[in-house]
Amino acid sequence: MTTTTTTTWTRVCALDALVPDRGVAALVDGHQVAVFRLGGSGDVHAIDHHDPFSGANVMARGLVGSRQDVPTVASPMHKQSFDLTTGQCLDDADVTLRVWPTRVVDGWVEIGGGTA
Ligand code: FES
Repeated sequence: MTTTTTTTWTRVCALDALVPDRGVAALVDGHQVAVFRLGGSGDVHAIDHHDPFSGANVMARGLVGSRQDVPTVASPMHKQSFDLTTGQCLDDADVTLRVWPTRVVDGWVEIGGGTA
């Protein structure tokens, strides 16, 4: 018995349009996703735009930083920090944001959605 999961890639914006260390909000598969291009590594990360602490869709406006080499974003509301690579909240072990797969194709940023 095999289970296949399909990833649907949604093109959200040109890589060049992403200002390093500034997030943008995108709609992927009906979910609001916050997309970040890191100034240091150039890596693109995507996590839920929804801030579980404030209940507002604000994570793309969060402050990008790092904690012990881990890239983070801090909620602009109550300042909790999240690991951009895992979605783990670094200030509350019980809270995790969904991390969305990202890739760059022909200079376009694409976010993977589909069945989880
Ligand atoms: S916006 Fe869909 S899970 Fe957060």
